[in-house]
Amino acid sequence: MKTALITGITGQDGSYLAELLLKKKYKVVGIVRKTSHENYANIGHIQDDLNLYQGDLLDPVSLREIIQKVKPDEVYNLASQSHPSESFKQPIYTTEITGLGAHRVLDVTLDVNPKAKFYQASSSEMFGWVKEIPQNEDTPFNPANPYAVAKLYAHAITKIYRKSYNFFASYGILFNHESPRRHLGFVTQKVTYAAACAKLGIRTSRHLNEEGEPLFKNGKVSLGNLDAKRDWGFAGDFVEAMWLMLQQDKPDDFVIATGETHSIKELCKEAFGYVGKNWEDFVVIDKRFIRPTETGPLVGNPAKAKKILKWTPKTKFKDLVKIMVDANIARLK
Ligand code: NAP
Ligand code: GDD
Repeated sequence: MKTALITGITGQDGSYLAELLLKKKYKVVGIVRKTSHENYANIGHIQDDLNLYQGDLLDPVSLREIIQKVKPDEVYNLASQSHPSESFKQPIYTTEITGLGAHRVLDVTLDVNPKAKFYQASSSEMFGWVKEIPQNEDTPFNPANPYAVAKLYAHAITKIYRKSYNFFASYGILFNHESPRRHLGFVTQKVTYAAACAKLGIRTSRHLNEEGEPLFKNGKVSLGNLDAKRDWGFAGDFVEAMWLMLQQDKPDDFVIATGETHSIKELCKEAFGYVGKNWEDFVVIDKRFIRPTETGPLVGNPAKAKKILKWTPKTKFKDLVKIMVDANIARLK
């Protein structure tokens, strides 16, 4: 039985990856933060099958103790401050976790367990003010926010460890991937949640947006830049690519994407259209949600992953939107 260690197991990707690895008969170990309130909404259904340890990417002592005890065959470093918008408000904190935190996990793993295979969660945000369209593994990076800079630091140091120490460290440059487990501060959840409210005739929601206000207020959702473009896939499909990367004979880097891009406006049209509504009746622009700088247009070319990993995204944009609207309707009911 192989042992996998997942940082960020309570997050969207961590929970889907844990499910996948349990199905593959791994012993799954997760690092969870010590919080004042339990935060297991995404893993409650599999909690009995997991081995959870308290630790923090800010604290190398806890990381060392866990990795020494567990001796994982595979380490998936998914933990991060993952909101690019928040990284403008908390840039140093973001760098501490998303950049240096990744370095800590990498360093402790190499030191304690050099035979382990390591996965680093890199991001399409690193392409930033994009140098070409679509983006692939050879596209130059040009980060446009503090989160992207932190991810690029983690990415670069992972590559240096691979080359310098003959360490099996791979990374996926993942484009946006979403699901009903996505935090409500991300745009796909905001829009599909608002569409669900519109469908159910809810005027003001009890769930909150990234500013801590009702996400749907007086029959409207407040959004930022509707012209931004993203390549959106389904998280359940994307975690499979992470696992495939660590089953290869040699470490490598892969773009994981659908190859399709859509604007936020198109997302609104699709989600509200699905519940028989006109999106323009429900969306207002609020300057607070417009970022100081915008990334993209992001669209990835997953040809290398298709060829080498034999990975293809299964869930289409329209189906993803439906899945998320339906899940939000169920949540609200
Ligand atoms: P997520 O839902 O925000 O999950 C982040 C996880 O990191 C949570 O489990 C969180 O724990 C944990 N975490 C945060 N700070 C920590 C700390 N100091 N110590 C230990 N754990 C900490 O993110 P996701 O969407 O699953 O994404 C997974 C990874 O892929 C992230 O690194 C993200 O930046 C990257 N990524 C995501 C996408 C995407 O579209 N989803 C695309 C490219 C790359 P709590 O539950 O305690 O907050
Ligand atoms: N969050 C948010 N809220 N975004 C909005 C809004 C709004 O009200 N209105 C428009 N947007 C636009 C943003 O400006 C951005 O261009 C796009 O919607 C997507 O924003 P998010 O859903 O917040 O995600 P992200 O693309 O910034 O970051 C996600 O994907 C990255 C990969 O490209 C995160 O999962 C990152 O962790 C990940 O690395």
